[in-house]
Amino acid sequence: MKASAIAHPNIALIKYWGRALDQPSYLNIPTNDTVSMTKESINYAKSGIDLITHTTIEFSENFIEDTGFLKTNEKLVPFDNVQMKRVVKVVEALREMADITLKFKMVSENKFPTAAGLASSASGFAALATCTSKALNLNLNRTELSKYARLGSGSAARSIHGGFVYWNRGNSHDTSYAEQICECNEFDIAAVIAVINRGKKDVTSDVGHDSAHSSLFNQIKIKESQEKSVEIRKAIENNDFTTVGMISEKNCLYMHSVMMTSDPPLFYWNPDTLKVIKAVINNRNQYFQTYKMINKGVKQKEKEGIECYFTVDAGPNIHCLCRTEDIDAVQYFIQNKIGIQERDIVKVRQAEFGSKIVEQHLF
Ligand code: PMV
Repeated sequence: MKASAIAHPNIALIKYWGRALDQPSYLNIPTNDTVSMTKESINYAKSGIDLITHTTIEFSENFIEDTGFLKTNEKLVPFDNVQMKRVVKVVEALREMADITLKFKMVSENKFPTAAGLASSASGFAALATCTSKALNLNLNRTELSKYARLGSGSAARSIHGGFVYWNRGNSHDTSYAEQICECNEFDIAAVIAVINRGKKDVTSDVGHDSAHSSLFNQIKIKESQEKSVEIRKAIENNDFTTVGMISEKNCLYMHSVMMTSDPPLFYWNPDTLKVIKAVINNRNQYFQTYKMINKGVKQKEKEGIECYFTVDAGPNIHCLCRTEDIDAVQYFIQNKIGIQERDIVKVRQAEFGSKIVEQHLF
């Protein structure tokens, strides 16, 4: 009864922030539908950041208690009580379904910084639900896996799938799950991440969700996010990069406005985050100006600026969304015009696959 799985993190284009108040909080049901792209890194060698979590779980009568470890630099570090509670929540639900009481050992390895706003909990719980289902011989389909991954971390519901993903908020455990919008590469978009800080954030999103409702702006953010989820889905299906970029950027700002005006206020940005955000906006404005000039018949010597948009999750790191053909130009811009070091830049594309079972075990 042992199995391993891998999963990728995802970047939210329409964010999940705050749990639905009319649902039990432990179910992690969002206040609005959300949309994301499951992501994988392209330049792993340069940044040392490979956006994959690998997890192994084993159930055995030799274990006298449930244990969980994070593998970091070849060492096994036991999960603290808070992390372990979330792991047990997912495993226990599946263990009950399988009708067994055997204890488990679980080891998980993130090949990128943990809890730094790069969505390690999304890939972590997606991989956990997937390998647990296999080890317990439940072999659940992706809809079911999405529901159980959500119990560990809401955004993990989306990392079960590759490509672009839509999470129906639903109104119960059974109706809140994610589904794939379209196959990888049907929609042309990529991203370049400026990693501002690899360290752990002070307030985890799990804790942050509880404060969302204390912001006066939260209700309007919920309404807007619900409407824009439907709109962005259409734009993805229509390969409309500009609309997707504009909606994503605005939704990120709505979420951070809620965070900053919550009680207590949450500031996930730092000065460098703002520096990159402003530079992205200037770069884009330059692009649109050039574009307008061309429309007026003015001859352009060379294309200036790039059409790119930013989005930031619960951390200081920025995802610059761009077309695939512009990915190197965006990297050049972030590195040479903004001054972010090459090792702190991660180029990403849509991950073709969601979570999947692998043969290689971590113990
Ligand atoms: O799944 P959680 O509890 O880590 O929350 C994710 C929160 C954001 O990353 C900020 C937004 C999202 O939808 O992924």
